[in-house]
Amino acid sequence: MMKAILAQAALAKAALAGATLLTAAMLLGTSASAQDVAAGERSFNKCRACHQLGETAKNTVGPILNGLFGRHTGSVEGYSYSAANKNADITWDDATFADYIKDPRAKVPGTKMIFAGIKNEQEIKDLTAYLKQFDKDGKKL
Ligand code: HEC
Repeated sequence: MMKAILAQAALAKAALAGATLLTAAMLLGTSASAQDVAAGERSFNKCRACHQLGETAKNTVGPILNGLFGRHTGSVEGYSYSAANKNADITWDDATFADYIKDPRAKVPGTKMIFAGIKNEQEIKDLTAYLKQFDKDGKKL
């Protein structure tokens, strides 16, 4: 009887350890591969001089970036785009944005956005995740 209880306890302990390992692996898995919104927010510091986000955002040097994904180039009302940007005919999604932000002037020749670009793929993913939080009214999703 005692032996059976001990064996059961040992089994329960092993199962618990297994579950803990699994949880740890899952946590590690997400933090290592997924997009990191906090890192994306830090990356957005590179854009802040020219772009605003959020409910009180205004067009400044560059257009508001609220609701960027799904938006068409040159579509922010009241912002005076270059002809190059207005006629670029791009719908912003993960792929077109990644391509653009690596080298804006290669993707949209003649754009007035003067920015060297971000080459790091992970940083682009993080930045994308951060930008995606803001719907077209600047509300955080
Ligand atoms: C020095 C100022 C400056 C910086 C820094 C800058 N941008 Fe821009 N951005 C602009 C300007 C100006 C435009 C408008 C381009 C045009 O009309 O040719 C623009 C346009 C854009 C567009 C196209 C928007 C649309 O509605 O078609 C995107 C997307 C964009 N910027 C994202 C970013 C991101 C993300 C960053 C930071 C990683 C960034 N920009 C950094 C000035 C800047």
